[in-house]
Amino acid sequence: MNNVVFITGATSGFGRATARRFAEAGWSLVLTGRRHERLEALKEELSAKVPVHIATLDVRDAEAVKQVIAELPEGFRQVKSLVNNAGLALAPEPAQNVDLNDWHTMIDTNVTGLVNVTHALLPRLIETGKGASIISIGSVAGHWPYPGGHVYGATKAFVEQFSYNLRCDLLGTGVRVTDIAPGMAETEFTLVRTKGNQEASDKLYRGTTPLTAEDIAEQIFYVATLPDHININRLEVMPTRQAWSPFNIDRDK
Ligand SMILES: NC(=O)c1ccc[n+]([C@@H]2O[C@H](COP(=O)([O-])OP(=O)(O)OC[C@H]3O[C@@H](n4cnc5c(N)ncnc54)[C@H](OP(=O)(O)O)[C@@H]3O)[C@@H](O)[C@H]2O)c1
Repeated sequence: MNNVVFITGATSGFGRATARRFAEAGWSLVLTGRRHERLEALKEELSAKVPVHIATLDVRDAEAVKQVIAELPEGFRQVKSLVNNAGLALAPEPAQNVDLNDWHTMIDTNVTGLVNVTHALLPRLIETGKGASIISIGSVAGHWPYPGGHVYGATKAFVEQFSYNLRCDLLGTGVRVTDIAPGMAETEFTLVRTKGNQEASDKLYRGTTPLTAEDIAEQIFYVATLPDHININRLEVMPTRQAWSPFNIDRDK
């Protein structure tokens, strides 16, 4: 029987590249996201290689998450790897200037959505046991503060701590837990963050060498296919051309 990977946010960026990477290695795919046409297109592309099940799903809806998992068809139920990838950043402005709804959307998606999926799939992953994994996409923003990071960074700090705490509870089950924390990567991430400003997105990535979605997919695949006895707790990956800045100081004018 094929290994099964369950990917949230498979319609774009890291999630879509991860679907392609696991398909290359012969895994069966459960692909989820809100944009149905994109899921259909990916299924069309990959189902010549491997079995593919798609489910249109908003991870914020706990009941819908439970239903999608309860209704997984034969051949897709024994999930070996969960890739908790669905997420977003909004409102790059300073905290005092942002819309509260944007904070709620980030918390609802990156925190509540991620725990909805994890909670619903835990029994299946524990049943799989040895070699199973929960791979959640955190961010360097969860570890390193920066202006405009406010709630986005805080949601990714949650991903890190939740992953460590899960490891404590899952000890003895064989299920591994990893927080993969990427730095700057060129996907639709900045287009979403700027609410559709293609120019701002292009400008951010221009003249440097960001990570690609395929780079992160490769790291996800690596973590999922390590020997059963190895658990990578946290994997922080940055482009070579990205690093930290000095502290900012408020000075008298
Ligand atoms: N790109 C970066 O620089 C970077 C760096 C560090 C971490 N990350 C994290 O990496 C993950 C993937 O981001 P990406 O860079 O690949 O961005 P992306 O290209 O915008 O992809 C985000 C994915 O999340 C899905 N998604 C968003 N809200 C959702 C919801 N409510 N329910 C279900 N799916 C939802 C989107 O699908 P639908 O819109 O179709 O639902 C899409 O497939 C995110 O968690 C992000 O925070 C990104």
